[in-house]
Amino acid sequence: MRISVIGTGYLGAVHAACMTRLGHEVVGYDTDSAKVDSLSRGVSPFFEPEFGAVLESALATGRLRFTSSAEEAVRGAKVHFICVGTPQQLGSDAADLHFVDAAVQMVADVADCDGLIVGKSTVPVGTAQRLADRLNRDGSRLELAWNPEFLREGLAVRDNLHPDRLVFGVTSQHAEKSLMEVYAKIIDDGTPYITTDLATAELVKVAANSFLATKISFINAMAEVCEVANADVVTLSEALGYDARIGRRFLSAGLGFGGGCLPKDIRAFSARAGELGASDALTFLREIDKINMRRRDKVVTVAGTLLGGNFLGKNIAVLGAAFKPNSDDVRDSPALNVAAAMHLKGASVRVHDPKAIPNARRQFPTLTYCSAIDDACRNTDLIVLATEWDEYRSIDPRLFLSLVREPRMLDARNAVDYDFWSEAGWQVYALGRGALNS
Ligand code: UDX
Repeated sequence: MRISVIGTGYLGAVHAACMTRLGHEVVGYDTDSAKVDSLSRGVSPFFEPEFGAVLESALATGRLRFTSSAEEAVRGAKVHFICVGTPQQLGSDAADLHFVDAAVQMVADVADCDGLIVGKSTVPVGTAQRLADRLNRDGSRLELAWNPEFLREGLAVRDNLHPDRLVFGVTSQHAEKSLMEVYAKIIDDGTPYITTDLATAELVKVAANSFLATKISFINAMAEVCEVANADVVTLSEALGYDARIGRRFLSAGLGFGGGCLPKDIRAFSARAGELGASDALTFLREIDKINMRRRDKVVTVAGTLLGGNFLGKNIAVLGAAFKPNSDDVRDSPALNVAAAMHLKGASVRVHDPKAIPNARRQFPTLTYCSAIDDACRNTDLIVLATEWDEYRSIDPRLFLSLVREPRMLDARNAVDYDFWSEAGWQVYALGRGALNS
């Protein structure tokens, strides 16, 4: 099947390349010609394990192209995936939908045959119906469906080709049939698929992200209690996780969630519920957000305490800049947020990250960046482990003793072996492990 993918950011680029693995012929469209050039040459504009290989082999088959020409992308395609961003609006919690609106309009204006527009972007409930009504009003031959994407950064290829489930929000059997044809191979693999209305499909995505954010903030709230009750949140989440009804995943306490999805999606969801007259239903999400942001403040406060109440003249290494390991994404990164806050308080902050330094430097040019862990940690009064890359877990604390000015480790991700570091002579503070820190 001939497919167009509108928007080749993280989601669109991965989706476009993966669709060729399902046997389709795909043209990816983006207004950013630098991105189009890079992808056309087989160079990924972002770090994502496995994506480079999938991109390269998809281009080699001749079934994948990228273009900045709307006509080239849209004409002749039967299915058009909308993969553009829905960032948080400036000065508001609501989602900015102007990229989605423009993409749908562009496809409608340029398409030369019947077909299906399939939204994958995360949108406020009601958006798809509004767009479908607009297509109908304009007498378009195109139909609209919503097929939310659940991929995680760092596991994007796997999540795209082997999803836990597929969700099809449709208004006709024809649309459902087209989507089943697109995903035939994945459905044949036994992946569950759910066909529903547009609004429910949109809600599945924001509800899933809200649930994940709630799980993380729940365990971080427990960490706050552990800190005052001299209890250990790591053991607590292990013990909770054995309960099959609760499960251990997304129950890792630490610096909390960041990235381009969870923080903005829960805010946009609350804002939308308010617009629809159901604001009471989601007031808890505001608390989830507050718990999450409090963890960042907590790390800065603890760092200040460990440094004797004064950041001035102190050297701090922040290990990690990406919002999570195996990603170079620094959007709403807790690690960078903490680094910037300590820098503002007068500390000399050196940041290390295996992949995210270029992006971090663009966002916070005044921080100092080191490409080697040793350089970041040399002569420091405190190391803050802010993103749990494997490289940091395998640091030998005995070897680092002679490198630093003061052997202090603030483990904000519960990533290092507390006993090993303590026995090596370090003062270790790990979030939510009150009993261990007393
Ligand atoms: C998320 C959703 O998981 C995905 O389904 C959706 O499509 C996009 O948003 P992503 O943003 O890639 O994916 O990251 P995710 O793996 O969900 O982690 C989000 C944040 O939560 C990270 O900052 C991570 O460090 C943090 N996290 C995760 C925790 O603090 N504790 C945990 O136990 C798990």
